[in-house]
Amino acid sequence: MTTFRADAAQAAELDRADPLAGFRAHFHLPQHDGRDEIYLCGNSLGLQPRNTERYMREELEDWQRLGVKGHFDGRRPWMPYHEFFAERTARVVGAKPIEVVNMNSLTVNLHLMMTSFYRPTAKRHKIVIERGAFPSDHYAVEAQIRLHGLDPDTSLVELAPATGRAYIEESDIEALLEAEGESVALLMLPGVQYYSGQAFDMERIVRAGHACGCTVAFDLAHATGNIPLKLHDWDVDFAVWCNYKYMNAGPGAVAGCFVHECHARAFDRPRLAGWWGHDKQSRFRMGPEFVPMPGAEGWQLSNPPVFGLAPLLASLELFDEAGMDRLRAKSLMLTAYLEFLLREKLSAEVEILTPADPQRRGCQLSLRLHAGRHQARRVFERLEEAGVTGDWREPDVIRVAPVPLYNSYADVFGFVEILAGLVTA
Ligand SMILES: Cc1ncc(COP(=O)(O)O)c(C=O)c1O
Repeated sequence: MTTFRADAAQAAELDRADPLAGFRAHFHLPQHDGRDEIYLCGNSLGLQPRNTERYMREELEDWQRLGVKGHFDGRRPWMPYHEFFAERTARVVGAKPIEVVNMNSLTVNLHLMMTSFYRPTAKRHKIVIERGAFPSDHYAVEAQIRLHGLDPDTSLVELAPATGRAYIEESDIEALLEAEGESVALLMLPGVQYYSGQAFDMERIVRAGHACGCTVAFDLAHATGNIPLKLHDWDVDFAVWCNYKYMNAGPGAVAGCFVHECHARAFDRPRLAGWWGHDKQSRFRMGPEFVPMPGAEGWQLSNPPVFGLAPLLASLELFDEAGMDRLRAKSLMLTAYLEFLLREKLSAEVEILTPADPQRRGCQLSLRLHAGRHQARRVFERLEEAGVTGDWREPDVIRVAPVPLYNSYADVFGFVEILAGLVTA
């Protein structure tokens, strides 16, 4: 275990000793006054891998060269284009290739999944989410409840932390399930909570949910590419995530979806069908009867948006090279270093909202300045003027995420130095 010191020399030493330091050069770092910004915003939008342009250009060239024949004769033929992602995506989320597909956006995938996996009955009709869930999840869940002619007042349960506690504990979830598990159809929680940065023990939650007969699902927007996941082994029923945060696939990138192998052939479940979910051997016979493909692919609606997907290949290539285990090892160090510097230099001014236990968080720390909302907002703006990009969440939280693929210990040191200059001035 490294003993941290609060000096610039140690940041440089840590960077020199970092086996993943070379990956930074694979990314475009936004510039500020002629030098790299301190970009700590991968929790919102990941940076662009340098290879993205090549992957995009190759598809543009194949379209120029081949027209429609690119579907079969392109370097990466467009017809099975989504298949090029399956094994790599599966490695990132701990799944089998048949369990994952990249398609649509997160919220669309959530709706597609709930259409199949939220099948309320008179007895079992509730959906459990956390209070303070990401608004889009909340809207989607309420909409699904209403689509079934039910009332969110009676069918939506919003789990809150116990009185006096900052987080929902896994034991709170177990207690809720103990009390009303028989009426719960779907338990839908984040892998990593977007506001606080808290990581949930997903395996334990699945076990508790399944023991009560519930379907258990996760929104992994802030977890995929951030923390190690074993979706298959944990028996997660389904999960959705976006690829524009830690997966670096660009603004509005095509999203990810996991459906556990045990549901791969659940063809009797209702689903919103489209031709790209149809059995690929007979798809072009153009018959009227829908024959779904086994696995997550069977939920695809449309043919893959090649330009929306191409950047993800560039990023997945880097994930494969770095490996999630090594990324997590660096991430634990980098965030611990950030926490150490904040406690060392700013413990009177900054409260860290994210759990202190490294197993209960990813790379992000959510910071609340004691100075109050107005002052906190000013500090945030001054950070931006000084070349630091984090992100602001109302009413008074600054989220910062040192990402192991491209952030350095010097970034973290520089950020805390600048912040200290602003809040103690
Ligand atoms: C936790 C969480 N869920 C859902 C979404 C919505 O994603 P999309 O707009 O890609 O559907 C986001 C977007 O940032 C998010 O952070």
